Amino acid sequence: MDAWSSQADVPPQHGKIVVVTGANSGLGLVSARVLAARGAHVIMAGRSLERVTEAAARVRAAHPEAAVEPALLDLASLDSIRAFAGGFAARHDRLDLLLNNAGLLGMPRGVKTAEGFDLQFGVNHLGHFALTGRLLSRLRATPGSRVVTVSSLLHRFGHIDLGDPMRETKPFSRRQPYDDSKLANLLFTFELGRRLERAGATAPIALAAHPGYCATAIQEKGARLEGSWLRIWRARLSCALFAGDVEQGALPQLRAATDPSARAGDYFGPGGPGELQGPAVRVKAAARAHDAALAAGLWDWSVTRTGEDFGGL
Ligand SMILES: NC(=O)c1ccc[n+]([C@@H]2O[C@H](COP(=O)([O-])OP(=O)(O)OC[C@H]3O[C@@H](n4cnc5c(N)ncnc54)[C@H](OP(=O)(O)O)[C@@H]3O)[C@@H](O)[C@H]2O)c1
Repeated sequence: MDAWSSQADVPPQHGKIVVVTGANSGLGLVSARVLAARGAHVIMAGRSLERVTEAAARVRAAHPEAAVEPALLDLASLDSIRAFAGGFAARHDRLDLLLNNAGLLGMPRGVKTAEGFDLQFGVNHLGHFALTGRLLSRLRATPGSRVVTVSSLLHRFGHIDLGDPMRETKPFSRRQPYDDSKLANLLFTFELGRRLERAGATAPIALAAHPGYCATAIQEKGARLEGSWLRIWRARLSCALFAGDVEQGALPQLRAATDPSARAGDYFGPGGPGELQGPAVRVKAAARAHDAALAAGLWDWSVTRTGEDFGGL
């Protein structure tokens, strides 16, 4: 099938164990709900146990047969990532799908992760890098498993300087670390694929997706933290004029997660004008997302920062 135009295209997922990060709202919540409704056992991971427990209850209310398990995972803390992965491994001996979905945009100056990383780059890239590394043994033990990482159209504006990936020596920008992190998501996906192939691993495969532009909480969270009503209203106006529906926006990541014809390195996004909305189709990443030297450098730097070496992959 060349385009997926509805959630009905998602095939049955019975017997699959799935982890979705940032599952309490937006695209993560839609993805968790659809995967659970199609029969997967979904670990809904979120940085607030209260919010993710409420979200799991909403999924169960809509689909009483759904197997959903709320879990605490703060991607801004390596200790939290290790605790989550340890708890997961103690309860599950397989992992069919890791959906690296959580994200933050437009954070104010000076907000950092527990380890002092820039919050956007730290959560969006380094947190998911460390999480994937921690869960790799379960993924490798599961035939047909997948790692799907959610990027953005804005990766096209990313510029990663390997001497200073988190822009610690550069002037402050609210947006640039986001664009860089979304480029990093793609560099990571393609580099993970190359390393798995070199190791002769048949599982997992690494894929990516982007949702186009859809109305979710991400658009105004940074402005709220800053208390800027001007930015909040600007975000709302832009959403009202240009953003699509979150149910449709989740289709590319659902397709990357479940399309039986998907292959390692596939990248899905909306097929409408400007890739902003529309049915889920294969799309092209910017050339720099395929820069193997940049990806290898970013990988080594990320290993240094997180201490996760993927078992020497
Ligand atoms: N919406 C769009 O137009 C758009 C466009 C391109 C790409 N994306 C990507 O889509 C993904 C999902 O975003 P969304 O639009 O669905 O926004 P959202 O509704 O704000 O969802 C983001 C999720 O990430 C979680 N999160 C934030 N910081 C976290 C942390 N430290 N640890 C764990 N989870 C954390 C949030 O938790 P809280 O609720 O606790 O904050 C929330 O569950 C992101 O990767 C984003 O970059 C979105």
